[in-house]
Amino acid sequence: MTLAIRLTINGVEREVALDDPRVTLLDLLRERLHLTGTKKGCDRGQCGACTVLVDGRRINACLALALSHDGSAVTTIEGVADGETLHPVQRAFIAHDGFQCGFCTPGQVMSAIGLIQEAQAGDDPERIREAMSGNLCRCGAYRGITEAVLEAQQEMSATAMGDAA
Ligand code: FES
Ligand code: FES
Repeated sequence: MTLAIRLTINGVEREVALDDPRVTLLDLLRERLHLTGTKKGCDRGQCGACTVLVDGRRINACLALALSHDGSAVTTIEGVADGETLHPVQRAFIAHDGFQCGFCTPGQVMSAIGLIQEAQAGDDPERIREAMSGNLCRCGAYRGITEAVLEAQQEMSATAMGDAA
């Protein structure tokens, strides 16, 4: 039996046929829609490499059934830059060497964007580390990642304040 779901992916509404109701959001993105920026690390919710935003909140796409997100808006790493202009979090990762092999980086960037939007970490590095603790990096780029989150957070809140003025 083939089911169809509707997703808005990186701002584009798509109808996607599912031939198996058990397909995960991660496999749907990577295998069927060829959005391979989202990485598959552990495939069991332990590494954060597959982090995407669903309706603005970060989730592990490997633990999510695509079917259960029918009607949702999904943002992947492919959707965060504005054309050639990188997202502030992407720029800050580059500026602070927040990646080395880069395998975990898409998930780290998505998680950082999510936590800044949730405004849950403030400017305390310890709280940022705690809020990013579901995203593992085997290269140990954590220091750069924390610095990048702090910098991007400042830039994004300054922009938001400018927008509100
Ligand atoms: S691949 Fe999803 S948490 Fe590791
Ligand atoms: S940069 Fe290599 S795993 Fe994080």
